[in-house]
Amino acid sequence: MNDIYILGIESSCDETSVSIVKNGTEDIATVVLSQMDTHALYGGVVPEIASRMHVENISLVIEECLKKANMTIDDITAIAVTNGPGLIGSLLVGTTAALTLSYLYNKPLVPVHHISGHIYANNIDNKMEFPLLALVVSGGHTELIYMKDHYSFEKIGGTLDDAVGEAYDKVARVINLPYPGGPLVDKLANEGKDIYPLPLPMDDDSYNFSFSGLKSAVINLAHNEEQRGNIINKSSMACSFQNRVIEIISKKTFKALKEYNIKNLIVAGGVAANSGLRNKLTELAKENNINLSIPALKYCTDNATMIAASGYYAYKKGIG
Ligand code: KG4
Ligand code: ZN
Repeated sequence: MNDIYILGIESSCDETSVSIVKNGTEDIATVVLSQMDTHALYGGVVPEIASRMHVENISLVIEECLKKANMTIDDITAIAVTNGPGLIGSLLVGTTAALTLSYLYNKPLVPVHHISGHIYANNIDNKMEFPLLALVVSGGHTELIYMKDHYSFEKIGGTLDDAVGEAYDKVARVINLPYPGGPLVDKLANEGKDIYPLPLPMDDDSYNFSFSGLKSAVINLAHNEEQRGNIINKSSMACSFQNRVIEIISKKTFKALKEYNIKNLIVAGGVAANSGLRNKLTELAKENNINLSIPALKYCTDNATMIAASGYYAYKKGIG
């Protein structure tokens, strides 16, 4: 069988990234250009600035990736690109670049859903085993997805309001941490104590989540303490918030694994980088004999490697 090389492009938010992946699993070369420092000046991603920076950088990042792989576009089998969800202007830059390459060099064009990309970050180096449960925790999504095989996605639950990463970023703002807040809340949580009486959100029998109430509880507690002239302990607030998030996510995930009789759990999305969540899931997986896969940190946040890995299976399925 001939090897298949997919060139992936990701530009849905504030990373311009291009990657070449062999046979859906081997990262040949990846370039990620983050705009984070620019957006940090404004306290969050500014869509117009993001689009303009993608326009400035996309061609350079494509060239850099091919150079790093020591390959030319002739060696590429197909082009995969994130076609949503994401910021519309940012997505347009990546899809336009992919369309142009596909047209100019006569390569098949494969659209990839951003979340499917996050899921397939677990197929880099180690191939995914089925059936599996995917816990998707990102800035825009919090979902439990059942996969009986490649490219078969059955959502069994999800957030009814805020995504977990969004809640992290909002809580970070309340305790005056700069953007992006998630990693900083995680770091502080490890230094604090769980002293604040925050609720365990949506502690019911469903596989759905809700994080806006927990976020509001943090805001109210912070305001009340302020009005009383007390200074909140940031580390302990981060710790109490993170503990509730981890408890409810791991509780529902392991309940689903049991009820669906699934032995393979994969974790996907930016919040998969969270140290507390990684530790808790690792501990529970050991206790319950579950095969757990969490991507390496560099594949948790947005990157094109995961888009090329997912694109390989989409290509094989004839999606495009
Ligand atoms: O998957 P991602 O890179 O972008 C989306 O597709 O949404 O996820 C970004 C989200 C942000 O909300 C960020 O604060 C959060 O992931 N995040 C974390 C950590 N690292 C990134 N949240 C908690 N702990 C972390 N270590
Ligand atoms: Zn993402």
